[in-house]
Amino acid sequence: MLSTLIIASVLSLLAVSVQAVPCVQFDANWNLYAFGGSSDVKLGANDTWASPSPSPLSTSGRPPWTGSNTQCILSQTNNAMYVIGGDSDLSKIYIYNFASDSWSTQSTSSAPSDLGNSRSSSVLDHDTNTLFTLTTGSGLYQLDMSSVTNSASGSALDWQAVENPSFSVSGYTVTAAQAANHIFYLGVPGTAAGSADIFVVHFAYFQPTAQAFSGTAFPDSAGQAVSIPNAGDNVPYQIVFVPNDFSNTYILTHWTDLGDYTVTSDAPFATNLINSTQTLPAPSSQDNAAAYAASPYALVQIDTSGNINYLSSPVGSDYTVASGATWQRMSYSLSGSGGSSNSTTNSTNSASASSSSSATVGVGSLAPSATGSRSASRSASASSAGSSPSASASSSSSSAAGKSLAARGDVLGLAVGLVALAAGMLL
Ligand SMILES: *[C@@H]1O[C@H](CO)[C@@H](O)[C@H](O)[C@H]1NC(C)=O
Ligand SMILES: *[C@@H]1O[C@H](CO)[C@@H](O)[C@H](O)[C@H]1NC(C)=O
Ligand SMILES: *[C@@H]1O[C@H](CO)[C@@H](O)[C@H](O)[C@H]1NC(C)=O
Ligand SMILES: *[C@@H]1O[C@H](CO)[C@@H](O)[C@H](O)[C@H]1NC(C)=O
Repeated sequence: MLSTLIIASVLSLLAVSVQAVPCVQFDANWNLYAFGGSSDVKLGANDTWASPSPSPLSTSGRPPWTGSNTQCILSQTNNAMYVIGGDSDLSKIYIYNFASDSWSTQSTSSAPSDLGNSRSSSVLDHDTNTLFTLTTGSGLYQLDMSSVTNSASGSALDWQAVENPSFSVSGYTVTAAQAANHIFYLGVPGTAAGSADIFVVHFAYFQPTAQAFSGTAFPDSAGQAVSIPNAGDNVPYQIVFVPNDFSNTYILTHWTDLGDYTVTSDAPFATNLINSTQTLPAPSSQDNAAAYAASPYALVQIDTSGNINYLSSPVGSDYTVASGATWQRMSYSLSGSGGSSNSTTNSTNSASASSSSSATVGVGSLAPSATGSRSASRSASASSAGSSPSASASSSSSSAAGKSLAARGDVLGLAVGLVALAAGMLL
């Protein structure tokens, strides 16, 4: 019967089973969310996690969650999340507006073909809302999201080649996070344990040498890394690094004076914490394709089976780690996530990191139109030798502008309508 067929097809449409790598993220008010299951859910504030009551989010326009290197990144200033690799097309960026519970999709152009070789390869610079993604074949790329804020713009954004790193990325599974306007690259093959390679955002410059961190040396290993956002919406000062050997959860702390890097007196914490490593226990679920998110008050892991583990109050207001902190398993787990992969794949790129490829991609004219009020304009040229294109992260990020209260549930509405129609035909 036709009506039965309609019902069946509608139901199967609603029950699309996805093979996803799920992720977790916080909104700017530190409510927790989990994405990538058969539905995406809001889990709410930390005082509800002991007995969670998840509420489903809008499905209209959400990512299909079919990518294997999915990253869910908070734009704290805009109370939005940018999803990279929500499907196999890493050039497409899904934007979730936390305040209006709505999705939109940002198209981009000039993306390098080897964008995103891990779940920690892209970093959103806090102050400029610019995405930086290190590729292993064609160097560092940037995508200026400052004009986008919390919903997609109608026109494509252009990826820009920045420059090649100062270190070899051969065999590197990119593991990056930001602290104080520096992007730290962890686990670069051949870098000493306890040291990280660095891109200095505001000078668009890869430091020629790695920076050593005091404290327990983290292994020279790939893994997952995220920044710990700052409650005052300043640039983050701390990084969570979970290496693939799960030896510890490493908290890296960094701060530099923007005007004069030799000045340490106005650091927001004890100066001996600058460029230091502290340790917390490793997560109990040792899944090296798990995703992590941090708020100033918690660290959360979701593994590829959808299990959620969290560590409350990992660091105090003085930026030192809590002693005796332990991971807890949430009684809720995200169902319908794939668990299709739990191991990061080594990049099998055969690229010799030749610099010629970057020349073919549009370089220059990097300055976005400044529309925002929260101007963070700064530009700098890469001063390294050779043909490195100069890059600027000049931008302005405006706070939550251009709210789009997009109608949610279009697809669901249509489906419900069809069911009603079919039911009507049966009667
Ligand atoms: C990944 O690459 C590193 C260095 O190239 C190598 O030591 C390691 O065994 C590789 N791991 C896998 C899972 O292939
Ligand atoms: C911390 O590391 C940065 C980056 O390498 C460096 O510029 C700065 O001098 C270091 N600060 C201290 C106090 O070690
Ligand atoms: C929960 O989060 C709030 C801020 O939203 C924070 O003030 C509080 O300390 C957190 N509680 C714990 C136990 O971490
Ligand atoms: C997941 O990880 C475990 C332990 O590392 C390993 O034994 C298993 O084969 C992995 N599964 C997949 C699908 O990679």
